[in-house]
Amino acid sequence: VASQPPPQVERCRQHAAELGFGLSTTDAVGHLLATLAAGVPAGGRILELGTGAGVGLGWIVHGLGDRADVTVRSVESDAALAESARALGWPPAVAIVHGDALDELRRADAYDLIFADAQGGKTEGLELTLAALAPGGVLVMDDMDPVPEDPFHTELFPAIDAAGEAVLRHPDLVAARLDHGTGVVVAVRRLNPPPTART
Ligand SMILES: C[S@@+](CC[C@H](N)C(=O)[O-])C[C@H]1O[C@@H](n2cnc3c(N)ncnc32)[C@H](O)[C@@H]1O
Repeated sequence: VASQPPPQVERCRQHAAELGFGLSTTDAVGHLLATLAAGVPAGGRILELGTGAGVGLGWIVHGLGDRADVTVRSVESDAALAESARALGWPPAVAIVHGDALDELRRADAYDLIFADAQGGKTEGLELTLAALAPGGVLVMDDMDPVPEDPFHTELFPAIDAAGEAVLRHPDLVAARLDHGTGVVVAVRRLNPPPTART
């Protein structure tokens, strides 16, 4: 059944429950991540900002299936979360990095798929995330809908909303706001942006 999470994801969800980590990606967004990961070009590169308990990463790895040509980096600022997610065991091409998303983005690597799921690179330093997107690369941001019952999300919401608007209006991106899961903005960097609009 398409809506049934794969075992890799179930393992991460169990891990999140054991940690009491409540910020994991929903199945709806996970299915989208898996779908987009499957379409990353040969030899491609994927970046996740904010590993959490590894649930989004589990979906990405599920989407890649047996592919060994794609490298995946996931950056997490909380050392204990990064270490415990790493210990879940991943394919060799997956690296879970303890560090700050903005430092990772400043390495100036180009990515074919970026899941921007941390404050760093989404509500702060969004321009670094956009600069790290390869031509034809896909950006996903979830949690774009207001959550009135969540004070943390509500406090951040103006910045989240502003990030979504910046992506939707960016001249080098083609972007859509999807009424899917927690609310998603998905964008693709144009292969041939207008010369005057390059970032
Ligand atoms: C929404 S959770 C990530 C959920 C995960 N991506 C998933 O799909 O299940 C956000 C995570 O980002 C981490 N984080 C917050 N700011 C960060 C930063 N500047 N750099 C890296 N990670 C950060 C938090 O510690 C938290 O684990």
